Amino acid sequence: MRFSLISAFVAFSGVAVAQLPTANLVEKINNLTAISTALLPETQALVGNITLLSTVTSDPWVTVLVGLYGLAAAVEQDTSALKAAGPGQYVGNDARSIGNAFRTFGKITRDLINVLIVASPLIKFVPGAAPLLYTRFATLKSDVDDFAKAIAGSIESGSAKNLTTELKTLDGTLLNAINIYNVTSTTA
Ligand SMILES: *[C@@H]1O[C@H](CO)[C@@H](O)[C@H](O)[C@H]1NC(C)=O
Ligand SMILES: *[C@@H]1O[C@H](CO)[C@@H](O)[C@H](O)[C@H]1NC(C)=O
Ligand SMILES: *[C@@H]1O[C@H](CO)[C@@H](O)[C@H](O)[C@H]1NC(C)=O
Ligand SMILES: *[C@@H]1O[C@H](CO)[C@@H](O)[C@H](O)[C@H]1NC(C)=O
Repeated sequence: MRFSLISAFVAFSGVAVAQLPTANLVEKINNLTAISTALLPETQALVGNITLLSTVTSDPWVTVLVGLYGLAAAVEQDTSALKAAGPGQYVGNDARSIGNAFRTFGKITRDLINVLIVASPLIKFVPGAAPLLYTRFATLKSDVDDFAKAIAGSIESGSAKNLTTELKTLDGTLLNAINIYNVTSTTA
């Protein structure tokens, strides 16, 4: 009897707990993916033009630098919204769709960061660029870590595991970028 009482309580609290609606959270993650997706061609255009790339104050540089901060700020806002809504208990297809949305976000965002990693041998010679990118990547990593941990704590374990795997890969790419643009360890 004790067991069924606990089950009933868990089922009841599952209903009672406030949380961000699944569709809303998935849309928030997809909106983050849209920011990375939009920044990708802008970043490719920047690194593809040596004239524009060589001056950190050029319009395409400003677009990319502002865009990377905007992405981090949007991630931070979503973390706040998720936490403010309640602890969350996403299960089944809800958990899966949240995990999948994050994996897509991670993949596109890694593509974006990799453009700036691949171009780093050139970018390191652009006066002032390295510390600006370092700060953006460090901020983005901190905000993405908070967001992913908040989500992982709200979805059932299978989906959380998938999400954590993607977070590790994304963190690896971010750490690589952070190390590359760590000006105290480069001579650019
Ligand atoms: C996603 O972005 C669109 C367009 O900016 C916005 O209207 C919508 O409110 C966003 N969705 C969520 C859940 O924040
Ligand atoms: C690079 O950008 C400059 C300034 O906008 C432009 O004049 C030039 O044509 C571009 N070069 C290439 C190869 O696109
Ligand atoms: C985990 O990801 C795999 C794809 O790599 C997918 O087939 C599976 O459904 C996901 N599991 C959950 C619980 O989200
Ligand atoms: C940046 O480089 C310095 C010198 O190598 C190192 O001490 C520091 O830990 C690095 N910072 C990060 C965040 O990796």
